[in-house]
Amino acid sequence: MKELLSFEQAPPFHVPLRFLLSAIPFGIAAGVLLMFSGDSLASRWTPTALALTHLMTVGLMLQAMCGALLQITPVAIGANVPAPTLLASVVHPCLLLGAICLVAAFLGAGEVFYFLGAIGLASGLLPFGLVALWALWRAPVRNPSRKALIVAVTGLLVTAVFGVALAVARGGGTVSPALVSTAAHFRMGWMVWGLALLSGASYLVVPMFQLTPQFPAPFQKFFVAGLAAAGLLVLWSPGHPAVDACLATLAASYAVVTLRLQRARRRPRVDSSFRFWQLALVSTCAAACLSLALPWLPDPSRAEVLLGLLVMVGGFDSVICGMMYKIVPFLTWLHLNNAGAKPLLMHHVIEESAMRIHLRLHAAALPPLLLTPWVPEMSVLAGALLAAAHIRQAHNMAIALGRYRERRKELVALP
Ligand code: HEM
Repeated sequence: MKELLSFEQAPPFHVPLRFLLSAIPFGIAAGVLLMFSGDSLASRWTPTALALTHLMTVGLMLQAMCGALLQITPVAIGANVPAPTLLASVVHPCLLLGAICLVAAFLGAGEVFYFLGAIGLASGLLPFGLVALWALWRAPVRNPSRKALIVAVTGLLVTAVFGVALAVARGGGTVSPALVSTAAHFRMGWMVWGLALLSGASYLVVPMFQLTPQFPAPFQKFFVAGLAAAGLLVLWSPGHPAVDACLATLAASYAVVTLRLQRARRRPRVDSSFRFWQLALVSTCAAACLSLALPWLPDPSRAEVLLGLLVMVGGFDSVICGMMYKIVPFLTWLHLNNAGAKPLLMHHVIEESAMRIHLRLHAAALPPLLLTPWVPEMSVLAGALLAAAHIRQAHNMAIALGRYRERRKELVALP
């Protein structure tokens, strides 16, 4: 797999890194907000629930996935992203400020914050999405990951169009009623953007870092086509039970195929990154089953919140943590190697024992978190554990950066 990657196309280290590291404070903030959420997770529509949703989606997920995309696109697809440093210096602050303003708006800071959030997020996502699509479209490598990333970025832009319309409507502005669809908004966000990006990255990073067999070629080919078709179905009839059943089947099939590949891995020893992935895949299966059961539940309001927690914390947060424990050490090794510094092997960048502490805190946060819609008292423990898990993640990333800087300094000190 490594031989297919063109490392000379890798963007400067700080380009993906600034996004990846900015994801962590949103995870910490989500934990802290959860601690003080009381019983507001009894419904998905409370201000706290919507704020928590967007700390996880336009905060943690968006930052981490933009960083990963800026790294994977040139290296794995050979797609040349023009002026990555300039692009990052425009997109990164816009997305950060936009996410903070949108969350503040949900928490009651004032209607103007809906507009500021929408402007910030749109100002970051538009250049990012257009440049990424342009680079992917012109890419020399024509593999399934490329198609998946094109579908993912398109899904993100469509999610943002609905999101901006919803925010402007909440701020008291006038928008076309056709765009004020929360049902289309979040399904496009979780499924078409989130799952397409995850699958496109998985085809590369799961065999590479977890030493599993390749994803079956028919799966690589038809899964992304299925997601694209599902995206069109969501636009046609968002929330239709048949469309949701189709989305759930796609999510479950991705999770089951990847879990089976993990079982066929060549290296028996498993590390924390592997466990984070496993947690995410099992949460995805549970979420798919729950979403199929939802239409039959007498009062689905709390179960809908459980679905959101399974998808965002059990699923995306877990897999992003697992991926970061491979991407950051790998990039540290790569950029030190390219600079001619004394080599630092990937597993020496962050110790497995340090990652395991994060994994255990994150895994311990899930049971109380998933009970919170029914037992609000659990939100304090769940929030504290989730915040502690991301604080530990920040500490581990600081260790990696410290070692990177040390080696760079040694290089400068050389005669
Ligand atoms: C441009 C960025 C975004 C903006 C401006 C935005 C804005 C909003 C607004 C205003 C609502 C409240 C809707 C209502 O009043 O009914 C909302 C709901 C929601 N958004 Fe976003 N959003 C954005 C991105 C995302 C992304 C990327 C995701 C997921 C990946 C997401 C997931 C959700 C979810 C799950 C809900 C709650 C819907 C529910 O519980 O049914 N949003 N969004």
